[in-house]
This record gives sequence, structure tokens and C-alpha cells, in this order.
Amino acid sequence: MKVLVIGSGAREHALVRGLSADPDVSAVVAAPGNPGIDLIAQCEPLADVCDAAAVLAVAARHTVDLVVVGPEAPLVAGVSDALREAGYAVYGPSAAAAQLEGSKSFAKEVMASAGVPTALAHVCTTMAEVEAALDALGAPHVVKDDGLAAGKGVVVTDDREAALAHARACLAKPDGQLVVEEFLDGPEVSVFCICDGTSVRALSPAQDFKRVGDGDLGPNTGGMGAYSPLPWAPTHLSDWVIEHIAQPTIDEMHRRETPFVGTLYVGLAMTSRGPRVVEFNARFGDPDGQVSLARLVTPLGTLLYAAATGRLDDADDLHHRPESAVVVVLAAEGYPAAPVPGGTIEGLDAAAEVPGAWVLHAGTRRAEDGRIVAAGGRVLDVMAVGADLASARDTAYRAVSCLELAGGHHRSDIALAAARGEIHIPGSDT
Ligand code: AMP
Ligand code: GLY
Repeated sequence: MKVLVIGSGAREHALVRGLSADPDVSAVVAAPGNPGIDLIAQCEPLADVCDAAAVLAVAARHTVDLVVVGPEAPLVAGVSDALREAGYAVYGPSAAAAQLEGSKSFAKEVMASAGVPTALAHVCTTMAEVEAALDALGAPHVVKDDGLAAGKGVVVTDDREAALAHARACLAKPDGQLVVEEFLDGPEVSVFCICDGTSVRALSPAQDFKRVGDGDLGPNTGGMGAYSPLPWAPTHLSDWVIEHIAQPTIDEMHRRETPFVGTLYVGLAMTSRGPRVVEFNARFGDPDGQVSLARLVTPLGTLLYAAATGRLDDADDLHHRPESAVVVVLAAEGYPAAPVPGGTIEGLDAAAEVPGAWVLHAGTRRAEDGRIVAAGGRVLDVMAVGADLASARDTAYRAVSCLELAGGHHRSDIALAAARGEIHIPGSDT
């Protein structure tokens, strides 16, 4: 089987790596890919991942059997639809199904119809509605832009003025709409559900670190690190998520005649009243997807092809290795506010030589003289596996210490609290 992967980040690098390891995958092509992917697969230029005609041309040129669409933007833009209409097996939802990520209010409406546990929410289009919702739900306030905002659309604050200011900015956009939500306490978990339109399988849960600084300080980012498994979480959490969240959601999408084929990313808060959905995304998380995928033993190409062709029921159950996986993100100077591009990266070979570690490229570019330079906010994902979280994080940080990027920064506490047994679900005595 020949597979085409659309995208250029560390998530796509991880997908290419996983697909290449599947004996039933004969070749992997990535468009546009990145300098890390280029070492293990063929990269094809693609100026705009949302340009369906250009994606179709790459798929046709390589006569691929399966297309895996990595990021949310091409999904919401309908690239999967164009590929499916042309007869390709596609792993990635239609534009209509990707609205589970593309519109927070749509996701809330589907959750309500499907009986999925989530935060109480008010959809608002005027400041009067916002004020009433803030009063009804109380502090801390959670105000979310309705549309895609690359991780920057959500403000969580005790400060009513800050909540109102964010609301004003959201409503000032064309067709501005927002959601005011009840605050959910408790640690967050990401569960990646592989869906074929009617059936669901779930990867082992991961935890993501969204804030830029140690101790969860500073602004939100796309994610600064992650780990899996979660020793503090209930043992059968993935099964619980399938039964109470993913399957009812998939059934509801099927009932609406917009079946969901691809990854339903269930972002949960483990609250004192049980798990509640914080968000749905329509793709693997980045970097949290990378640690779940690193532990997946089930051949990835076969699995995603089964999902893309509606035959997940015929596929074997998912298997994960018992070892722990940790990823630490190396970000460019100035990230997330104003990342500085062009910094030279040194030490990639030394980092990859650390036993148990490997490096995924998140935002890099090969300069004309052959140097690898930073070309994005998040630059590299340093991955590691180990017998337990403590050893995986030790390996990851040893590999991080081999890398040099002027002004680059990373968190030093990824998976630390979990390795020390310091994470607790509110109201539970575990
Ligand atoms: P979202 O874009 O919906 O994933 O939100 C981004 C981040 O904001 C989440 O990962 C949470 O850390 C935080 N967040 C979102 N919704 C809530 C909520 N209802 N209560 C507490 N924190 C939230
Ligand atoms: N790491 C969070 C996300 O991919 O949205």
C-alpha cells in the first residue's frame, strides 16, 4: 500500500514514521513534509495544504492507496471531500464532520444531542448575552471564539473585564460568535479515537502541557510536551471514552448523514463529577498525539486504511507497548507571541543517538547551505520511550541537552508531577 500524508509538522513526521514501520506499507509520500520527514520518506512540494486541486494532483502522480490528512485547516476546508469524490480512501473527516472542531457551538449542539458529558455552555452573538452568561455561570470565566483559532481562541480568567474584552474581540470578527462555558476543574487528558464512520477504537490516553512555562505559567501554546500512559488515570478510561463519548458522537454524526471518518480527538477534564469534554478536535493532537502513537504497536497503515474504508470492525484490537513515552517541545525564541525564524539548529545527530530517543521536526527548514533552521514557533519534538515515565523523561531531557538553538526554550517539567505521583483527580482519593 502507498500512503500520502498531508502536512508539515511533528504530527505528520510521527505519522510518516509509524506508517513506514508497517510491513504492509510499501511507500510513504508526504506533502509538503519537512526536512525530518525527507530523511525517511519522499516529500512533494505543496504550497497550500488547503488547495484541494494541488493535493489531488500529488495523490494522482503517486497513485496512492490511502491519503492521511494531518492538520485541521485542510479538513475544515474540504480537502478530504475532494479526495473522496475522486475515489481515494481518505483518513480524515469531511468538511461537514470536521465542524466538530471547526465550530465550538456545533460541537456543543452535537454533544447535547448525543448526551455526551461536557461543560454547560451559552452560545452568544451579542455583548448583552455574554454578560448574562458570565453572570449565570460565575467565575472562573471561560470565553471561547467559535471558530478555528490555532489554540488562541480561549480565555480562562477570574477577571470579568478580561473575559468581556476577549468576548468583544471575538464578536468583532465577521459573523462573530462565541461560547461562554462553565469552568471545569481537574487534570486534562487527550484520547485519540480512530473512527470509520460507525465504529471506534481508542489509543492510550496522553496528557498535554499547554502553557509555555514550567508550573503551567505563561500564555497558552499549541502544546509544549506530553506523555503517555497516565498512571493516575482510571485504568479503563479509553473504554469509558468510547462508550460515553466517542460512540454516541459518531452515532449522532451518522444519524445527521455526516459520518465522521478520522481521528476524533477527545479533550477531557477529569473533574470531581467525572470526565467532561473540554473540546473535540478532528485530527491527532500535536504533540500529545505523538506519544500515543509512539506506544501503538498495531500496524498504523493497516489500521488507518481499515478506518478510511469503513472496515474497522474487521481490524484487530489496538495494542500498545507498556513502556512510557515522553515528548519535550523545543520552541523558537519569542514563541508563542512572536517566534523568531531562521535560528540554526545544532546537535540533531547527537540527540538522535541517545538510546531510546528520536527527534521529530515540527517547524524546520533546510537552508540553501544545508543547515537546518527554525521555521516555526514549535521547532522540534524530542521523543523518548523508557521503562517508566521517570526514565522516559530522563532520556528525553538528555536528548534535549544535545540540541542548540539560539534563544530556543523548552519546559523542564514535562511528565514530572505524573512521574512523582503528584497528579490527583479532584474529589478522588487516588
Ligand atoms: P480549547 O481550545 O477548547 O481546547 O481550550 C483550550 C484550553 O483552555 C483547554 O485545553 C483548557 O486548558 C482550557 N479550557 C477550555 N475550556 C475550559 C473549561 N470549560 N474549563 C476550564 N478550562 C478550559
Ligand atoms: N496539543 C493540542 C492540540 O493539538 O490541539
